[in-house]
Amino acid sequence: MKILVTGTAGFVGFHLAEKLLLRGDEVVGIDNINDYYDPKLKFDRLAESGIAYEHIDWNKEVTSFKHHGYRFIRMNLEDKQALMTLCAREDFDVIVHLAAQAGVRYSITNPDAYAQSNLISFLNILEASRHNKIKHLVYASSSSVYGLNSTMPFSVKHTVDHPVSLYAASKKANELMAHTYSHLYKIPTSGLRFFTVYGPWGRPDMAYFLFADAISNKKPIQVFNHGKMKRDFTYIDDITNGIINVMEKPAEPCAEWDSRQPDPSRSTAPYCIYNIGNNSPVSLMSFIKEIETCIGEKAIIEMKDIQPGDVTSTWANVDDLMQNFNYKPSTTIQYGLKKFVDWYKDYYAVNKFTGADLEQQSA
Ligand SMILES: NC(=O)c1ccc[n+]([C@@H]2O[C@H](COP(=O)([O-])OP(=O)(O)OC[C@H]3O[C@@H](n4cnc5c(N)ncnc54)[C@H](O)[C@@H]3O)[C@@H](O)[C@H]2O)c1
Repeated sequence: MKILVTGTAGFVGFHLAEKLLLRGDEVVGIDNINDYYDPKLKFDRLAESGIAYEHIDWNKEVTSFKHHGYRFIRMNLEDKQALMTLCAREDFDVIVHLAAQAGVRYSITNPDAYAQSNLISFLNILEASRHNKIKHLVYASSSSVYGLNSTMPFSVKHTVDHPVSLYAASKKANELMAHTYSHLYKIPTSGLRFFTVYGPWGRPDMAYFLFADAISNKKPIQVFNHGKMKRDFTYIDDITNGIINVMEKPAEPCAEWDSRQPDPSRSTAPYCIYNIGNNSPVSLMSFIKEIETCIGEKAIIEMKDIQPGDVTSTWANVDDLMQNFNYKPSTTIQYGLKKFVDWYKDYYAVNKFTGADLEQQSA
């Protein structure tokens, strides 16, 4: 298959591209390599996939020296013309759109980044899909769309009209925009609500990463809502396997869909929404204990109030994923966190990156 993957310098995109390339797909990756977090980690992910730093330039194609089927282009998805030209030339089968401005807390102070990267760029992806006969558009949504919902586990059958951050609102907006294009232009679209993804080459702005860094450097960690939080932590391999399962089966119209009792996850249009989560929430304090075990150090804990935009619990209902793909994430946090911490120790020992650097970035 010939696949455009956006966000391949990012955490999920990097892992997905690797998995697709190893099974023989042809991949064109796009990323603007922005500085939301240390771009060095993004360049290093690309280097791990065989994309040499020194050849990366705006709108210039770089071929991987490691994977025959991988080309990377540093491109801003807000540049509609560049994206349209690429898609017209390449004849992609599928687009997996993962590039976005992520982060709940950052959206409180930097709302504009979400309008540009999550709304304008998504519209450009939809337009590129429309004009280039893309057979399936798969895109990242987020568990944060559940916002004020409290019925657990969170199901794609629930309505999600009460987001509590602009990030969540932008992801819900993506789902609405996708439905419109699926309806008007019959483009099969599948939106994937990821639940707190973690693993090697992860994101330094996320709690598990900040915890590992602070604990390793004997610095205090801030635990919000006094630790009374639960998350459905989902290991990166489970996310990429879920994406591939969904990607291979283009969304179809649902013959039983009833407009008087509309199922929010399906439609008369070729439109689907899935949760991809571990279906097994873990308390934040147990998660921290597991990181302590992997690192071999005790955490110094500073309890804090809940942050604006945060939700206290997440828990994914993955029945639809099971029904349609016979697939369910299953990695334990014991296994997943060990993998992450092993990578963390290796990477930062090599790169001599310090906790102080991380603090500066998240300030
Ligand atoms: N990691 C998680 O826990 C999680 C949870 C739910 C949803 N998601 C979603 O999954 C997707 C991937 O997340 P991630 O964790 O890999 O994040 P990431 O920040 O590591 O990767 C996203 C990449 O997109 C790129 N990007 C942003 N705006 C761009 C633009 N305008 N043009 C081109 N590239 C751009 C960034 O440079 C970055 O490398 C995102 O859509 C995110 O919102 C992630």
